[in-house]
Amino acid sequence: MRTRPLKVALLGCGVVGSEVARIMTTHADDLAARIGAPVELAGVAVRRPSKVREGIPAELITTDATALVKRGDIDVVVEVIGGIEPARSLITTAFEHGASVVSANKALLAQDGAALHAAAENHDADLYYEAAVAGAIPLIRPLRESLAGDKVNRVLGIVNGTTNFILDKMDSTGAGYQEALDEATALGYAEADPTADVEGFDAAAKAAILAGIAFHTRVRLDDVYREGMTEVTAADFAAAKQIGCTIKLLAICERAADGGSVTARVHPAMIPLTHPLASVRGAYNAVFVESDAAGQLMFYGPGAGGSPTASAVLGDLVAVCRNRLSGATGPGESAYAALPVSGMGDVVTRYHISLDVADKPGVLAQVATVFAEHGVSIDTVRQQGKDGEASLVVVTHRASDAALGGTVEALRKLDTVRGVASIMRVEGE
Ligand SMILES: NC(=O)c1ccc[n+]([C@@H]2O[C@H](COP(=O)([O-])OP(=O)(O)OC[C@H]3O[C@@H](n4cnc5c(N)ncnc54)[C@H](OP(=O)(O)O)[C@@H]3O)[C@@H](O)[C@H]2O)c1
Repeated sequence: MRTRPLKVALLGCGVVGSEVARIMTTHADDLAARIGAPVELAGVAVRRPSKVREGIPAELITTDATALVKRGDIDVVVEVIGGIEPARSLITTAFEHGASVVSANKALLAQDGAALHAAAENHDADLYYEAAVAGAIPLIRPLRESLAGDKVNRVLGIVNGTTNFILDKMDSTGAGYQEALDEATALGYAEADPTADVEGFDAAAKAAILAGIAFHTRVRLDDVYREGMTEVTAADFAAAKQIGCTIKLLAICERAADGGSVTARVHPAMIPLTHPLASVRGAYNAVFVESDAAGQLMFYGPGAGGSPTASAVLGDLVAVCRNRLSGATGPGESAYAALPVSGMGDVVTRYHISLDVADKPGVLAQVATVFAEHGVSIDTVRQQGKDGEASLVVVTHRASDAALGGTVEALRKLDTVRGVASIMRVEGE
């Protein structure tokens, strides 16, 4: 074993960073044996230097993260600050000064992944980010390495624990959205401002990263269609149950049937109770991968939290340190396929539509005609009437989002349709 240690700069010592430092210290001997050289925490950059940080020698703490990454003797920079700046500049500076980088920063990777990969490659350095998607769950490396010989067609995932906790509560207790959100906040599963989670921004960043890796194509955050889950109601859950489904906020990355393009999207969707993702409870995450040769794979586990996320960071740290000792670098960006990323209109899926209609003869035929005129084929239809008004629940066969949009627009114009109560996609069949 080499005796000279590999030096690690830790940028950020919050929920994740403090756990990274703890595991680096408590597992130092094992890490050294697995890497082939000791790893030394050379500095820890934070915002508030006076905060007590158990187990971290005070002399390692600095507020000058830039000076730390510019030292020149740092082998690996672990970025767990989060956000775009100063994380982006610090990572770029780290590459310029000869370090490799491990990051957990989904927002930055989704926005600037291509530029950061290019910077790493220009400096013969590694950029690893297993922790950026689904916390502890090994996903980036399986997609990047284990499935490198296969062809991934679809990635369907629950990649946000906060929203899964809320939807699971609504499903199991019949609670409304606000009540379930309040409970998630009280238990620490939702932040004071839950926008990034409940509006799907966090999941969209992860979808962009996953789609890019799965399809060897650059997929930017702006390419991801996004709908939050704040409009999901107890009535939607009741409707889902009627057709043997539950509701999840899904990140869906898909190759088109002809293979010529890809799509990435985040939205609430009904999935059958028989689908493995339907049984993902509480704040857990799971990602379902469909590929040509392997078939269906499911990755499941804790998608957040200090210690689980630090596990993924440490795995990357070991890999990057091993690469460094052997004078090699791991896989960089793979975007050779450069497939076009299509918009939502091209997505093909099934739909559950709930309409408020007049309860009189001929309405059903009128509605069915509109669906047929737009090329959307109906799978099932259920009508419930009461006091001259009725609700009509239609579940379609697979149709494009554009065709469904046209259908709904035409339905709204019918005198007999009082309103479109809800539209939800049905996935996972
Ligand atoms: N938390 C999770 O469960 C989780 C899961 C997966 C991925 N991630 C990702 O991991 C990253 C870190 O998340 P976190 O939850 O650990 O965040 P956090 O608890 O807010 O910690 C952020 C850390 O960065 C430090 N910091 C902030 N601005 C800084 C600056 N300008 N210079 C130096 N240090 C600065 C803070 O210093 P102070 O301590 O002085 O405030 C703090 O130590 C994010 O990219 C996040 O998306 C988190």
